[in-house]
Amino acid sequence: MLTLGIETSCDETAVAIVDEHGRVLSDVVHSQVSTHAVYGGVVPELASRDHLQNLVPVYRAALDRAGKRLSDIDGVAVTCGPGLSGALLVGMQMAQGLAWSRGLPIVGVDHLVGHLLAVFLQHPERTSPAPEFPFIALLVSGGHTAIYRVEGSDLSQITELGATRDDAAGEAFDKVAKLTGLGYPGGPVIDRLAAEGDPDRIVLARPMRRKESLEFSFSGLKTDVARWVEANGPLQNDQRLRDLCASFQRNVVETLLNKTFRAAKQQGLATVVLAGGVAANRSLRARAADYAERRGMRVVIPHLSHCTDNAAMIALAGSYQLRRGENHAGTLEMSPHTALERVTRKGAGRR
Ligand code: KG4
Ligand code: ZN
Repeated sequence: MLTLGIETSCDETAVAIVDEHGRVLSDVVHSQVSTHAVYGGVVPELASRDHLQNLVPVYRAALDRAGKRLSDIDGVAVTCGPGLSGALLVGMQMAQGLAWSRGLPIVGVDHLVGHLLAVFLQHPERTSPAPEFPFIALLVSGGHTAIYRVEGSDLSQITELGATRDDAAGEAFDKVAKLTGLGYPGGPVIDRLAAEGDPDRIVLARPMRRKESLEFSFSGLKTDVARWVEANGPLQNDQRLRDLCASFQRNVVETLLNKTFRAAKQQGLATVVLAGGVAANRSLRARAADYAERRGMRVVIPHLSHCTDNAAMIALAGSYQLRRGENHAGTLEMSPHTALERVTRKGAGRR
């Protein structure tokens, strides 16, 4: 069964074709970074226009690379939220048009569920086998940061255990990069500079050190960086900048992993999954392996290309929904908030 996935929730225009085993036949991503970089962040209006311009070529490339035609596809999956409304609409309209033209079933996919299930996508460079349910997942992206207990692929089987009270981890990376003149997006450049810095030379706040809580807060750390930059003048591309990045990144990474592995212990689970754009961070990946080894646990992380936004994860999450018999033909709706929050709140009320 082949599912064609479309992702346009933010600044990546992506189309992928995936089978029900997580085999990726094609996975095409057009990044809009160069459009938005000059503004220091994503400009929603420009994102929609870029999607409109690029979605058809990206779709054609996805079919070509897979060696398939639309008539070979069994179902269409599209991100229906959370994300920028105008950007989402471009992908959803395209998906509806494709599904309608061939009478295919279509499903709207929650972007966060896509991230959480990306760990089941196959990749030739991946050595670790996929995890088994249930597991603990840390989802760290530009818009969300939360820890989940994941019992299965259905929304109702995913429970939020703790989330950020303010900024998402990726947002903190992006804001710190802006403060230090490193441009947008901040994650990859801080990742690179931090590797050449000493995390102990500049002391910054440790976010939410309260041990018992599974909630995060990154705004204090961000303010600390802002104060340090104000007191120490503009930073050129020098060693102090590398040290600042290293200290900031270490504090974020240690807080994320401390709480995630504490959640695993509390829940009696030995498998931890990382997901979302920040899971591409090299230090987070390496330290997660250390944490797991020390505790006799297992950590499974998607291939780098499946951590940041992509359509393969949407196609796979959608293929699970299609196999459950879901079909949103004629009823597809945009959801500005993640459906996970609704399910979790309902679930929390029951307990
Ligand atoms: O999942 P994603 O591609 O989009 C959202 O759903 O938000 O995540 C984007 C976020 C951005 O904040 C970006 O700075 C961050 O992921 N990111 C990283 C790295 N690569 C991307 N953060 C830290 N280290 C990285 N290597
Ligand atoms: Zn994302």
